[in-house]
Amino acid sequence: MLNQSAAQPIEPPEGSTAVGTGKGGVGKSTVAAHLAGESAAAGHRTLLICVTGQDDDDLGIKRYGHGVHPQGPSAIDGEGLYRAIHDRVPLQPIREVRPNLDVLPGGPRVADISNILMLRMMQEGPAVVLSLAQSLAPIAPLYDRVIFDSAPESDPLEQLVLASARTLIVPTRSDESSINGMERISKNFKVVKSQANPYLQMAGAFLYGSNRSATLMHAAVRKDIRRVLGEGTPILQTIVGYREVPARNARKKGLLFSEYADLLPTSATSYDVKAGRATEADVVPETIIPLSKEMRELTNEIFDYCGRAA
Ligand SMILES: Nc1ncnc2c1ncn2[C@@H]1O[C@H](COP(=O)(O)OP(=O)(O)OP(=O)(O)O)[C@@H](O)[C@H]1O
Ligand SMILES: [Mg+2]
Repeated sequence: MLNQSAAQPIEPPEGSTAVGTGKGGVGKSTVAAHLAGESAAAGHRTLLICVTGQDDDDLGIKRYGHGVHPQGPSAIDGEGLYRAIHDRVPLQPIREVRPNLDVLPGGPRVADISNILMLRMMQEGPAVVLSLAQSLAPIAPLYDRVIFDSAPESDPLEQLVLASARTLIVPTRSDESSINGMERISKNFKVVKSQANPYLQMAGAFLYGSNRSATLMHAAVRKDIRRVLGEGTPILQTIVGYREVPARNARKKGLLFSEYADLLPTSATSYDVKAGRATEADVVPETIIPLSKEMRELTNEIFDYCGRAA
């Protein structure tokens, strides 16, 4: 989307952070939802914008009807985001999905935003990359923090997010294709910073969903991250372990890890399942406790790094 001439910049909101990398399935949406949820729970007015074609519904907006929807056409499935960009109007989020937390959910309609941008690009040039920043600007003063979830493998959507945020935080897994996936975000970071959003800063990168005791491997991954993103890239300490069962269950229930952990004391047990009084789905696994704790450590560290970078 961006090439030669520069666009007139729009200063992104203070406290705005994009979670992004060029590889799918590394934990972007999980981390973005938890950053937003933890920020709101700490009393900050927070907006989560999911520029993703897939709606993982980590917050239970669609499945459990959380939040107050704007009047008029639907805002779910990426429709709200699409309409704001298409009609060039301010974003209208779903309000109070949790106390202090408003959300613009992603979904299939987000994929069509790329088409609008491509068409407008011919007439309007590189300024189209600021389309989201323009729709965000009128409501940004309502929030202390804005978190963006981003789509992998789509340069136009990734650039749209990077043009709207002040900091970027990059999750990765340890495998080679996740490491290589960071090259895409690195390229988009540089092009957006030089041509549309000079305020954009790299807050850092982190390894997500990994065996916490594999320290030698972690050292090798840190080297790989710096090779791809640059030697000076800050790398976070916290590593959230790979804990598939609680992560999967929490998402299915539309609960953040800490919210799911709160259900543990009253959870059914495997004895209840054997006795036919409950199903597997009713059992909250004990591993939600370390997962929730690690995620809280990670989100605190991310906010810390973002604060320093901005
Ligand atoms: N700590 C964890 N351990 C194991 N699995 C996890 C963990 N956290 C999240 N997951 C699961 O990993 C999968 C990918 O996570 P997520 O959707 O957050 O990644 P993503 O980068 O947003 O993916 P996409 O690129 O498809 O948008 C999901 O099924 C999620 O429930
Ligand atoms: Mg995602």
